[in-house]
Amino acid sequence: METQGIKYAGSKRRIIPHILRALSETEGVRTVLDGFSGSTRVAQAFAQSGLDTTANDVAAWSEVLANCYLKSDKPDSFYAEIFDHLNGLTGVDGWFTEHYGGLPDDKKKPFQIKNTRKLDAVRDEIDRLGLGFTDKSVVLTALILALDGVDSTLGHYASYLSEWSARSAKDLVLKLPKRFAVTTENTVLRGDVLDAVRGRAFDLAYFDPPYGSDNAKMPTSRVRYNAYYHLWTTVVLNDKPAVFGKANRRADSKDSANPSVFENCRSDVVLSAIERLVSETDARYVLLSYGAKGRAAKADLTDVLSAQGKRLKIIEIDCKRNVMAQMTSTEQWMNGGEEYKEYLFLLEK
Ligand SMILES: C[S@@+](CC[C@H](N)C(=O)[O-])C[C@H]1O[C@@H](n2cnc3c(N)ncnc32)[C@H](O)[C@@H]1O
Repeated sequence: METQGIKYAGSKRRIIPHILRALSETEGVRTVLDGFSGSTRVAQAFAQSGLDTTANDVAAWSEVLANCYLKSDKPDSFYAEIFDHLNGLTGVDGWFTEHYGGLPDDKKKPFQIKNTRKLDAVRDEIDRLGLGFTDKSVVLTALILALDGVDSTLGHYASYLSEWSARSAKDLVLKLPKRFAVTTENTVLRGDVLDAVRGRAFDLAYFDPPYGSDNAKMPTSRVRYNAYYHLWTTVVLNDKPAVFGKANRRADSKDSANPSVFENCRSDVVLSAIERLVSETDARYVLLSYGAKGRAAKADLTDVLSAQGKRLKIIEIDCKRNVMAQMTSTEQWMNGGEEYKEYLFLLEK
């Protein structure tokens, strides 16, 4: 099944076939929630499997991606003219260029200046087009995918490469995202997962909370999505925020500003958050993804989940380490070893 997405820490692109296989072991599932939808690849797979899909994430970029893939139903021809217009704009020096554009000998920037100039022109023009949110989401998704294809990063925006990546030399070109025919009733939410489950019922809820580490010696090793992908927030909002630090992160992506309990360093805190989430979820089935090195250890999770339902099946998947895992020391430590394991916990409540 084809899905599309940006480089994303913890993307479940590779285990989608296992997730769909787990689904085939359930009965009568028609409505699903992807509670931490991130890149939205799993939500895309659910919707393409004919399930009424609700995608939720705290991140503004995830909401945009989800609207593009799960809600937009205009023909390609509607967008073609818009993309031609945007791709034809002349680049200008603006806010993105000031903060993220690098000249050939000015490295350690996420993009080459020719592409941030294009970004500056395109992003302001998108606001001027006055599109509705779903159509705007298709265009912003195209912009995010185009930027993801010309970046000079390790796959996130908390630090940049010291030499230009080969792909950063390419030109920024917007292309129509690979949408699929939307045949199901889909919903997109942006917010805390506990708010997403409140007052709603699903046949199955899929949860893929952020990863942390279970090594108490390195407490700051969790993936901080808000900090890693601050640039996508700014591209979506175009709010030209105050920035800080070497990577020019948005001020509101500081660790102190990140309230997600699922990104907490303490495994007992994460475990009780998962316990609360599963207990407050009105769904016959809960499917939980968890990396072997996640902070809430496998045995503890097994105990917590079995106490909440009548049948628990644990699926162990050997995955090659993802790209991010091989690229920073923190990530290497987090995932360790040549291979790492992913678990799927399928709970029938
Ligand atoms: C492991 S990633 C999900 C990856 C996703 N399954 C995919 O394939 O791309 C975890 C996601 O949880 C989101 N998140 C963190 N805390 C959250 C919360 N309290 N409620 C909802 N989403 C949250 C992050 O923004 C991040 O996108």
